[in-house]
Amino acid sequence: MKKLWGSRFQEELAQDAKEYSYSLEVDRELLRADVQVSKAHALMLGRARLISKSEAQKLARGLDAVLKELQGKDLSESVSEVEDIHTLIQAALEKKIGKTARKLHTGRSRNDLIATSTRVWLREKSILLAGWINVFQSALVSAAEKFHGIAIPGYTHLQRAQTVLLSHHLLAYVEMLERDKGRLSDALKRMDECPLGSGALAGSTLPLDREFVARRLGFSRVSGNSLDAVSDRDFVLEILAAIAVLFVHVSRFSEDLILWNTAEFGFLVLPDSYSTGSSLMPQKKNPDMLELARGRSGQAIGNLVSLLVTMKGLPLAYNRDMQEDKKGLFESVKLAVKTLEVLSNLVRRIEIRETKCFLAVSDSLLYATDLVDYLILKGVAFRDAHETVGKLVQHSFAVERSLKDLSFKEFLRFSPLFKKDIYEIFNPGKSLLRKQTRASTHPAQVKAGIRSWKKKLAAS
Ligand code: ARG
Repeated sequence: MKKLWGSRFQEELAQDAKEYSYSLEVDRELLRADVQVSKAHALMLGRARLISKSEAQKLARGLDAVLKELQGKDLSESVSEVEDIHTLIQAALEKKIGKTARKLHTGRSRNDLIATSTRVWLREKSILLAGWINVFQSALVSAAEKFHGIAIPGYTHLQRAQTVLLSHHLLAYVEMLERDKGRLSDALKRMDECPLGSGALAGSTLPLDREFVARRLGFSRVSGNSLDAVSDRDFVLEILAAIAVLFVHVSRFSEDLILWNTAEFGFLVLPDSYSTGSSLMPQKKNPDMLELARGRSGQAIGNLVSLLVTMKGLPLAYNRDMQEDKKGLFESVKLAVKTLEVLSNLVRRIEIRETKCFLAVSDSLLYATDLVDYLILKGVAFRDAHETVGKLVQHSFAVERSLKDLSFKEFLRFSPLFKKDIYEIFNPGKSLLRKQTRASTHPAQVKAGIRSWKKKLAAS
């Protein structure tokens, strides 16, 4: 297929050079966005009298027809023959409407075009992605509501630390995901400017109406510097970074569920429909979806790092290196959407093994900190109280009995301030009810959290 350039060359581009540089395989994803941008440009050319109004209409209608035709078409044949999506659209338009098509590229370059089309694509996808984050958050909040009241050990260093509500643990991820959405929308605000009209790098001698194009494409403003507009990909980096952080959250969540699903923890039963078996060991039920979500975070993080490295040494303005931004971007967005979908479905189907959870929170050591607070409320200095309870714990290990199985006399040996009510300390439910601070794991606080998330998510 005819290229968008070539008249100054005496030789054809070599076959291996073509294969090395052609990008249609990847950038065909931009078909709709690129047509949309081209349409806005065509209409602007008409308004600016750079082409006639009827030519502008012809271009716009032709572009609609091209989109219709190409959308349903298997493009795999074109991949080795057409340089990129812009070339494909140009050629298809020429075939449809004849030589008027040759006016479409007036006053623009693929450099400002690609920077615009990628933004238009990304805007739509980021909103879609935020919607999927919402779906996952809703699944987590529903689970938090369903399992409200079930206590589990909370961990630090993966050692049992203090009792928390399972719902509190789930809502922690809802908070993280909310910030992930915030990062996406922050990035969207910054990328909300239209590069088209920057030309290859220096702007144009033609009277292009940049504001019209920006408005027509739904951008709030035009970009402020033509060199910057065609040469930075920070808007792609920001989205890749937001997705990488999202995947860090998703990966940690998956890891928690994988742990809870082990025989050793045993808090959780995964749905059969989201688990897999072993070809050799008939008893196995493996958490593969969670492992894949955890594993694919590697790709999301890799895509960010890869583009950071690609960009870091580039001189202004456009360089072909930048073509490499799209593969990772498309992959990360797709990966995130798919992962959120599968995890939401999985979370909606989990079951909790309450007896196992109850057994785990019956471990007296989870309440050692509550014992410290008990002494503090009786006037003991924190460091002294900490030391006293530390010695008690050591004693319980020495006599191989849990704290709650020590006699009252034994308690008194460590502090005369202990009263018989200390045994209440080891009751998991009461421990939760003693929590006083805002945003703690107190059941009422957690319930309020569930309520407010439900309202917030329903409104967004
Ligand atoms: N396909 C290129 C990209 O994705 C845009 C085309 C600009 N190419 C050029 N040789 N100036 O970045």
